Amino acid sequence: MSRNSKTHVELLNSDQIAKFKRDGYLVLPGILDPDLCRQARDEMWETISKHLPRMKRDDPSTWTPITEEESARLKAARPDAGGDPYFSGGAHRFVVRNGAEELLLNLAPRAIWPVAEQLLGAGTVVWPAGLDEIEMATGESFMSDDAVNGLVSHVGHDMGWPEKGTFETEPALRLPKTGPVWINGQGSRGLYCTLPNSPDPGPDYNSAHSDGACYGRYRLQIAAYIDDVPQNCGGFTVWPGSHTRVWEEQWEAFKEGEKHTDKHLSVRKAGGYTDPVIGRIKSDTAPVECHGPAGTVVLWHTKIFHVVGQNTSSDVIRQATIYGYLKTAESLSDEMAMDNAGGDIWRDWSHEVQRQSYH
Ligand SMILES: [Fe+2]
Repeated sequence: MSRNSKTHVELLNSDQIAKFKRDGYLVLPGILDPDLCRQARDEMWETISKHLPRMKRDDPSTWTPITEEESARLKAARPDAGGDPYFSGGAHRFVVRNGAEELLLNLAPRAIWPVAEQLLGAGTVVWPAGLDEIEMATGESFMSDDAVNGLVSHVGHDMGWPEKGTFETEPALRLPKTGPVWINGQGSRGLYCTLPNSPDPGPDYNSAHSDGACYGRYRLQIAAYIDDVPQNCGGFTVWPGSHTRVWEEQWEAFKEGEKHTDKHLSVRKAGGYTDPVIGRIKSDTAPVECHGPAGTVVLWHTKIFHVVGQNTSSDVIRQATIYGYLKTAESLSDEMAMDNAGGDIWRDWSHEVQRQSYH
């Protein structure tokens, strides 16, 4: 699919932009190509039949949690070239690392591309080109501490990158097909799935979080459903309005010297899970679960506080792909990627977004 393909979705209207700014997320029900969604589901089941054949597509009673033994076996199947196993999982979750493949890129990141440019500014967004002829994904990457952590954990062996964050842009970071291709913007995270009867996250939502660091070039992310996600079936769950509060707090902490990866600190302002601001958000805001038919897309500000919803069904597998749009280094210098001086959360967004009021 080219950047000018006709299969793209429609642009947002001003009410939708206003809602996105105010709430930090927006649900676009059933907007993706149903054929691509069907193909992605078919491929997912082919993958399952190879890696976990006891799970049968036509028999939901077999969609039971992945055992520790199965999980360990799947984890051991890491590709020689590096990267995560193609299929992995544990308990009620499984992941297919197909995010840099053409089907997954065309399905969502490229289909939503015009909206990403509408929101972030034309010509300022990294295009997900996917894999080259030897199945490597190459693209520019801001080498912050959390990016380097992601490289180490998802590639599995050294590929010659710096050991610590340099906080500079590597112009051509090369990653294997099942590696962290979201770091250089070339692929999505693949399929993140939740099996039926998943456990209640509990009243404290301990696994709820805000993704990664405030610094860097992520601004807009999407969750795209390749199958129906009815209510209470594991939909992406957000705390409306939390994006601004987390954004401001994390930049404040960063200015005071705290990095996203400073795990040694006993009290952290910006870890993304237990920050004081997150405690306040949990106590004064009710979470909203984003559900919808196959092809539904949730757009969200990268800092919104969120959690994977509980799947209370007995016959639905929540199937979503996640992608984060990156600003290009040309449009957002290293200096600006590390400094939101002035604190304007919409500084790096389009004029159309900046102009839109929402009071
Ligand atoms: Fe997340």
